[in-house]
Order: sequence, then structure tokens, then C-alpha cells
Amino acid sequence: VPTAALAAALAAAPTRLVVFTHASNVTGAVLDAAAIVAVSRAAGAWSVVDASQTAGWLDLRCDADVVVASAHKALQGPPGLGFVALRPGRELLPQKQGGTGSGRTEAVHPVAWPAAFEAGTPNTPAILGLGAALDGVATPATQAAALQRALARVDQLALGLADDPRWRLLPPTSSLRTPILSLVPRDYEPSELGAILADADVHVRSGFHCAPWIHAHLGTVAGGTVRISPGADTTAADIDRVLALLHRL
Ligand SMILES: Cc1ncc(COP(=O)(O)O)c(C=O)c1O
Repeated sequence: VPTAALAAALAAAPTRLVVFTHASNVTGAVLDAAAIVAVSRAAGAWSVVDASQTAGWLDLRCDADVVVASAHKALQGPPGLGFVALRPGRELLPQKQGGTGSGRTEAVHPVAWPAAFEAGTPNTPAILGLGAALDGVATPATQAAALQRALARVDQLALGLADDPRWRLLPPTSSLRTPILSLVPRDYEPSELGAILADADVHVRSGFHCAPWIHAHLGTVAGGTVRISPGADTTAADIDRVLALLHRL
């Protein structure tokens, strides 16, 4: 997102909230969150960063008003859980109430943070699971090393498919990126290729990735893409196996 274009759009239309994903879940391109936050704040809007694709890979500090993320991606926590982090001084209104939780002698739901946001029974197993997963993420240095390992696997994959017209690669346009490679097969539907790889126990995501607008931008509205996402523990041999499978097709 060119920040000048964002600034112009915000100047043209009074805006209260700018919500954006920190990284594309289709190409792995990372947005300049700090710049978007600064432009939004200058225009009087709150910024909300969806860091689901970057939590566990990148430093999330960008001065946003709100940062949200899921637990189950690079953080490797359980599904069904996410988190919301607010800039000091910012307040949110609860959208759900039910059970008075820690205010159990009260007839109405507590209004103070965090109990105000704890409607119903908390997903304690998932919360403990995320805690354990975060212990595994360890330090910013080990996180950065894990990202470099996974990016090396993406590069290995891209190199192995380069110059082969049967695969249209859709690498990110940003230099900062997450370890994702989306591609469009020439001879198969993305969903078909996804199923072929799954039969070989290679699990990728095919289709539209819940991101319809970017497919209009990429020219992939017909069937979306096949997205291959190496993790920190994916080995060079794993990628060689994927390349061998693709070359055999
Ligand atoms: C950027 C982004 N935001 C949100 C989600 C959805 O998260 P959840 O499944 O935890 O609602 C995804 C993927 O699932 C994602 O890639």
C-alpha cells in the first residue's frame, strides 16, 4: 500500500479506523506497518494491525492502536484462539456478554478489563497451549533465525521452479517477507494440484485463501493459487521432495 495513496484517501474521506493485514497471506509481502500507523494517526484514525501472518516471524512493534493475531499460525499455538493487544490508553467496548465470570456475585457482566471481555467459559486449554508455544518461540534472535531458515526453503523452492513455464510464481513485491510461495500451475487447477500434493502427504493450501481482492490484483480470479508455506523445521530434503513431485507431473 503506497502510504501517499493512503494519506490521500484518508484526506478525501473522514475515517475512524484503518484495518490492515501486516503481511499478505497470499504472497508473503510485508506491509510497512509503522508508516501506515503514522499516516492513519496523522489523519485522526485508529489503526488495527492483523498480525496473524507475522506473529512468530517478525517484530510486531509498530505503535498501532490495536494489534490482533491468531494463535495457530507461526506461533504454533492451538486453533480457536487469538489475542488483541491495545496501545496504552486505548479502550474497547465488549461485544459479547454472558456469565459474570470473575464477578460471580454480580447480576451484570463486569465492566473492567480484562473480565469485561471474558464472556462465557474461557478456552483454557488453548490459552495454556499458546503459553507453551510462546516458550518455544523464545527470543527475538531465535525467531529471526527461524524466519531465515524458512525463507531459505522458500528460495530453494522458487529456484527449483524458476524458468519452468508450467509454474507461474507470485513472489512478494516487498523485500521484507514471510515464508510463503504462491504459484499458479499451468496444467492443473490449483485445487487439483492441492489434492495431488495432499495424496503425497504434502499439505498446502489451494484456492483463494479468504482474500478475494488480491486475486483480482494478481489476475488469479479463475482458481486462486497454490500456497506452499515452509516452516522453521522444514528441511532442504522436504523441499527437494516437493520439487521432485512437481517435476514429475
Ligand atoms: C491475515 C489473517 N487474518 C485472519 C485469519 C483468520 O484467523 P482465524 O482463523 O484465527 O480467525 C487468517 C487466516 O486464517 C489470516 O491469514
